[in-house]
Amino acid sequence: MKIVHTVDEVRAKVKEWRTAGLSVGLVPTMGYLHEGHKSLIDRAVAENDKVVVSVFVNPMQFGPTEDLASYPRDLQRDAALCEDAGADLIFNPEPENMYASDFSSFIDMNTLTTGLCGKSRPIHFRGVCTVVGKLFNIVQPDKAYFGQKDAQQLAVIRHMVNDLNFNLEIVGCPIIREEDGLAKSSRNTYLNPEERQAALILSKSLEHGRKLIEAGERNVSVIIKAITDMIETEPLARIDYVEIVDWNTLETVDTITGPVLNAIAVYIGKTRLIDNHIYEEV
Ligand code: PAF
Repeated sequence: MKIVHTVDEVRAKVKEWRTAGLSVGLVPTMGYLHEGHKSLIDRAVAENDKVVVSVFVNPMQFGPTEDLASYPRDLQRDAALCEDAGADLIFNPEPENMYASDFSSFIDMNTLTTGLCGKSRPIHFRGVCTVVGKLFNIVQPDKAYFGQKDAQQLAVIRHMVNDLNFNLEIVGCPIIREEDGLAKSSRNTYLNPEERQAALILSKSLEHGRKLIEAGERNVSVIIKAITDMIETEPLARIDYVEIVDWNTLETVDTITGPVLNAIAVYIGKTRLIDNHIYEEV
């Protein structure tokens, strides 16, 4: 497996593969890879002849007070995981390589990005869409793989691909959890042992919501109140949002009548964690 840092190097490699008639999968990441990312790479390896993993902490998707500087980075460890999983190429550009000093073109979206995480992270999805659009143009993959943990991101990217006619398939992959239920995330490394324990309130409260839905509850405010009440029993937790939205439009619903996303964002100490359940069939 090779690590390259420039757009030209990726293009040359992909051209070689295309000339040989091979299919290409892309797994976009910000590095510090864990089993969640590994599950995306595994799926990409199973479904494509060649797999590119991009490792790029994208400055454009971080707000001014967010954790860009402290975001964990370890390329050597990432390379070992990618190699083990059978990826063929890591694309690890420098920010200057992705954004020239006169960079001035962005991909923005009026819908889907304003609610949920978009409320407290107003510039986040513009940064995500712009970098993912660039990665799609650089690698030109047949398929690209995204985790359902970032459910809003997955919905936004699917919408962007449809709106802008990117010629590839978006594959959404299930959330990978620790044994005790905590969704895997590079940001879990910020948690001290007490916070790590407190963070279980995210998956527990979502499970509480699931039980209500499975028992037939369809009134969204009842389910949201039950989840909120449970999170509020945890002294280290501070709710950013608890929402149930239409899984296609991400618009709020009063009653569950079709596919919905139950998404939550909760600060545990200073660390903001997200988690969700998607109900495709209700
Ligand atoms: O999900 C992530 O890690 C990032 O948002 C992504 C898709 C790699 C874009 O920087």
